[in-house]
Amino acid sequence: MLLTEDALAPTRAVDPAFRRDIVEGLSRNPKATPPIWFYDRHGSELFEAITDLPEYYPTITETALLQAHGADIATAVGHGRAVVEFGAGSARKTPHLLRAIAPAAYVPIDISGDFLRASSAELAGVFPGLPVIPLVGDFNGQLSLPSAIDAMARLGFFPGSTIGNMEPDAAVDLLRAMRRLLGSDAMLLIGMDRIKDRERLIAAYDDAAGVTAAFNLNLIARINRELEGDIPMDALVHRAIWNDAKARIEMHLEATRSLHFHVAGEPFRMQEGETIHTESSHKYGSRDARLLLRAGGWEPMEAWTDADSLFSLMLAQAG
Ligand code: AVJ
Repeated sequence: MLLTEDALAPTRAVDPAFRRDIVEGLSRNPKATPPIWFYDRHGSELFEAITDLPEYYPTITETALLQAHGADIATAVGHGRAVVEFGAGSARKTPHLLRAIAPAAYVPIDISGDFLRASSAELAGVFPGLPVIPLVGDFNGQLSLPSAIDAMARLGFFPGSTIGNMEPDAAVDLLRAMRRLLGSDAMLLIGMDRIKDRERLIAAYDDAAGVTAAFNLNLIARINRELEGDIPMDALVHRAIWNDAKARIEMHLEATRSLHFHVAGEPFRMQEGETIHTESSHKYGSRDARLLLRAGGWEPMEAWTDADSLFSLMLAQAG
């Protein structure tokens, strides 16, 4: 059953936070914009397409881990928890978890209201007895959980290595906020992408079919459309770079000639070769991952990793 106690109505007005983040990010040197703004309707669809790419190993590997270790996860978390998923998107991995642990309720949280509503309705159809209570919002901001799950212990679910988008200090802050939101008897099941050879990492973020490039450039299309921008899209190219010192993949949009353009009435310039840094995707070794969880107020319990050590699913309890 789908319970909509929150305002799920799509808002068509330009989000003032979008304008602020983009104008601020383009004013910086070097230019850098937050990755949350990739996910308008089309961006969310492009991300779904990325997860189907042969080069993009995280989704397929994490899904296989959920399937292979569903029973172990169920044993460790027990029955009757409310699953709270952060950044649910299309929530394609979620059925595997819900089937394995038979939770008392499911609360998907996502910033894209349209997308969340569609996927929640679909999921509620597959699990007819399960209360599904979608929550539209930015999980980096202030959230309050629906009162329907007040009495339930919670399992936070944060798959996909979304935590990797954050700088380590912000990742720690987010883990601590999740710990506060979910309560002292909570557990957290989190996906973490592992450090691996550079070729494999770069291929995953610069695929042969150009889907990741389209995903990156869609941000510019959105800026032009929603913020009265005139950025020449044909003059920006997608780049994926491995930053070894920071153990992260960086996505950039690089100017192929010198540019001047406007966004929200403000003028901007780029030199040829200058980039807009649009995303970082941090990778973690097994010890790094445990240290990060601990710093965030979560005590690691178990970790499930594929045979090639591409990706880990980690279970932790509130510390
Ligand atoms: C959704 C942040 C986990 O970093 O792998 C995929 C986003 N960007 N390809 C990732 C993404 C380009 C993805 N996360």
